Amino acid sequence: MLESQTHHIPILLEPISHFLVEGIQNLPESAPSGVILDCTLGGGGHSANILSKLGRRAKHRIIGIDRDPDAIVRDQVRFAEEISLGLIEVVHASFSQALEAVGDRPIYGLLADLGISSDQIDSQTRGFSFRYPAPLDMRMNTKAGISLQDYLGDVSESELSDVIWKYGEERLSRKIARRLIDLRSRGILPKNTLELGDAVAASFPPAMRHKGIHPATRTFQALRIFINQELNELELLIRDVFPKVAPGGRLAILSFHSLEDRQVKETFRVRENYELPFKKAIQASDEEVEANSRSRSAKLRLAIKK
Ligand SMILES: C[S@@+](CC[C@H](N)C(=O)[O-])C[C@H]1O[C@@H](n2cnc3c(N)ncnc32)[C@H](O)[C@@H]1O
Repeated sequence: MLESQTHHIPILLEPISHFLVEGIQNLPESAPSGVILDCTLGGGGHSANILSKLGRRAKHRIIGIDRDPDAIVRDQVRFAEEISLGLIEVVHASFSQALEAVGDRPIYGLLADLGISSDQIDSQTRGFSFRYPAPLDMRMNTKAGISLQDYLGDVSESELSDVIWKYGEERLSRKIARRLIDLRSRGILPKNTLELGDAVAASFPPAMRHKGIHPATRTFQALRIFINQELNELELLIRDVFPKVAPGGRLAILSFHSLEDRQVKETFRVRENYELPFKKAIQASDEEVEANSRSRSAKLRLAIKK
C-alpha cells in the first residue's frame, strides 16, 4: 500500500530555496509571470519551502514534475490547497517532458535534485532495496520502461559487468555478473531483491562481506541508474531544458554520483552561458550529514543564466 506521507528529508534545503527565491525577488515588477521548475518534486520538501518563502500572493508559480506515479499521488495530497490556489502545478512527467508542462511561460528557476528519494529506496514494494523481498522492478516510472527482472532475464554477462562497473564503480563487477548469469542458466535467478542482494554478497570473499556498507550497495546503485537511464535523462535535461531558462534565471542541481556531477560541472563551465556564484560544489555541513546520512555524497552546483 502507498504510504500517504513522505519521509524524504530534503537536502541542502535552505541554500537551494534561498537561491531560487532570491532570483524571483530580483525580477523587475514588469517581468511576465513565469515559473520555477522543480524537475524532481519527490516528497515535495524543496518545493514546500520555496512556496512558503514566495508567499500566497506570488505572481510566479512552481511547476513540480516527477516520473514516479506514487510521488505524484502523494504530492497531489500534500499540495491540494496550493494547487487549488494556483501556486503549484504537480505533473507526472520525466525530464524529457518537462518543457511540455511549462509551455511558453518563462523559466526563472530550475531545480534538479537527482537520483532517488527515501520514499523510493525505503519502499518494501518498489524493488530499490536489498532489505526487503520486493519484486525485481527498480523503475521510478512504473508505467514505462523495462523492469530489472526483464533486464536480468536477457542481458549478456559482459554488458551486465560493464553496467555494474560503470555506474557502481564495483571492483567485483565481473564476478558478480558471472554469478548472476550462471544462476540464470541454471534457472535459479533471484526472484526478489532480498535474494538478489544475497547473490551479489555471495560473490564477495567471506572476509569482505561484513565490512562497511552492504556488499550489494554499489551493484544496486548501478542497476538503478541503468534501469532508469539516469545519465541519459540528465543529458536531455541539460541539452533541452537548460537553454530554455530565461536570462538571469537560476539553476540549482544536486547530484549524488560523480558521473552526474561531472556532466553538470562541464555544462556550467561554459562561461558565455552561465555565471557561477560559487566555483566549487556546495556540500552538506557536518551537522546535516549527522542528521541525514543521505546528504553525505550530495554536491550542489548553482548557476545563473547569462
Ligand atoms: C532525490 S528525490 C527529490 C526529493 C525532493 N527534492 C524533496 O524535497 O522531496 C528525486 C526524485 O526525482 C525523481 N526523478 C528522478 N529522475 C527523474 C526524471 N528523469 N524525470 C522526472 N523525475 C525524476 C524521482 O522519481 C524522485 O522522486
